Amino acid sequence: MELRELSKENIDAIKSVFLQIFSAEPWNDTWTDEQLRLYILELMGNSNPLLLGLYDDERLTGIALGRIKHWYTGAEYWIDEFGILPEYQKKGTGSDFMRKIKEFLSDRDIKKITLLTDRTFPAFRFYKKNGFYEKDEQVFMVYEGGTHT
Ligand SMILES: CC(C)(COP(=O)(O)OP(=O)(O)OC[C@H]1O[C@@H](n2cnc3c(N)ncnc32)[C@H](O)[C@@H]1OP(=O)(O)O)[C@@H](O)C(=O)NCCC(=O)NCCS
Repeated sequence: MELRELSKENIDAIKSVFLQIFSAEPWNDTWTDEQLRLYILELMGNSNPLLLGLYDDERLTGIALGRIKHWYTGAEYWIDEFGILPEYQKKGTGSDFMRKIKEFLSDRDIKKITLLTDRTFPAFRFYKKNGFYEKDEQVFMVYEGGTHT
């Protein structure tokens, strides 16, 4: 398995892998082709995008889509989307990918990775197993409009 940087040339492969991962349990997301194309282009259009792929020969099997954010404590990799093709899951592939990402970042002097996930989903245990911890003092907040309080 090999880590490679992804670019606009890989958009069709990214879309296909993304759909196979997130249309399945437990996420069951429903994307139209156009919504997904716009979302991925958006991720690529950030000022410091970093999109990484895990390849089994020429087959894209895992994706990490995010960007490098600069902060006073140093740069960090913010991951918006991370996943492994269903048929490669639960075989250590995700952990191998994460290990390769940490090496890639470390070579560029980036030691921190941040992301959001759902506490009730298997990914939560996966991240904990791979050295991530939960920041108790922080909370994810949303305003959805409609209530004028
Ligand atoms: C979460 C995900 C990336 C894990 O990748 P993976 O290749 O399946 O993970 P690994 O085989 O390296 O598993 C490592 C550990 O993660 C945990 N884990 C992974 N999948 C799990 C599952 N379905 N149920 C319970 N624990 C799981 C286990 O603790 C496992 O360790 P173990 O094998 O010693 O029990 C992958 O399942 C995936 O892409 N899921 C769908 C997309 C997703 O949820 N992405 C994260 C969004 S934030």
